[in-house]
Amino acid sequence: MAQPQQLLPNLTFLDLFPPAADTAREVAASLSAPRPTLDPKYFYDERGSELFDAITRTPEYYPTRTEAALLRDNAAAMAAELGPDLVIVEPGAGGCDKVRILLDRWHPSGYMPLEISRECLLDATHRLAPRYPDVHFNAVCADYSQALAFPGDDQGRARLVFFPGSTIGNFEPAARERFLTGLRGLAGDNGYLLIGADLQKDPILLNAAYNDSAGHTAAFNLNALQHLNERLQCGFEIDAFDHQAFYNEDLCRVEMHLRCHRAQTLNVAGQRIELAAGTRIHTENSYKFTVESFSRDLLTAGFAPVSSWVDDDNLFSIHLARAA
Ligand code: AVJ
Repeated sequence: MAQPQQLLPNLTFLDLFPPAADTAREVAASLSAPRPTLDPKYFYDERGSELFDAITRTPEYYPTRTEAALLRDNAAAMAAELGPDLVIVEPGAGGCDKVRILLDRWHPSGYMPLEISRECLLDATHRLAPRYPDVHFNAVCADYSQALAFPGDDQGRARLVFFPGSTIGNFEPAARERFLTGLRGLAGDNGYLLIGADLQKDPILLNAAYNDSAGHTAAFNLNALQHLNERLQCGFEIDAFDHQAFYNEDLCRVEMHLRCHRAQTLNVAGQRIELAAGTRIHTENSYKFTVESFSRDLLTAGFAPVSSWVDDDNLFSIHLARAA
């Protein structure tokens, strides 16, 4: 078991990056399925995290700025519901940008970001830790979808699990319930969950948000192949793929795919995988919710909803819940 390293007086780092052999087997299995898929976690190498940041700044992609405004406007009301002396735990923290809104206003005791991209995590925490000398940073590089039992040195403080961005929308309904139940375990019996959930809306707005005119979403989608070529030497011919994203109204989700227009042979974990021309690799689902549907999901997972907040245009929701 890896040991935490002390990187700065208030920053420890624990590296649980998954072994390449495990990753290769997982990727080979999902690419050779009758409907090939790739887990959205493969978007997020260093370049992918940069491209995601670029997406969040496009005029079409409303979730990030809408959620940030909701957090800024309601952080004080949220704090009033929470006890003192919190540790914020953030699965998939990326560049640790959003949590700054909470760090600035709540002065928590600790912050534990969990992030699969080691470069992103180390950069972000080296930048942030010196600016918040009273916050103990406990950075963990890990695939949080695989394991949620991350021990910290919280010393009995209540945890607030922070899961912004509507990343919960990546999970299909059954997996969503399992994952939310996992977050309930991560929060502990006296803990909380603060979570963002994107709302159902006019498909024209949704389709635009995932097909930005600058092409950042297309580059982000294609980067998953580049990342896997570098990490596992899969041999994707990237110029043979096209970005596709559309709202599936029946299932209330945006789907992203990579369509291969030239047959090719991959080699992953020693396995040959043939992709015929016309094959689509399903790379992401992004489910869209209603406040009511999402509150029900929280209840099912063992949370008691405390409050939710929605912007004036009904684009995005944030939910605060307590362990039930
Ligand atoms: C980070 C999963 C919330 O689903 O909107 C953005 C990722 N994909 N554009 C989302 C994403 C394409 C994003 N999440």
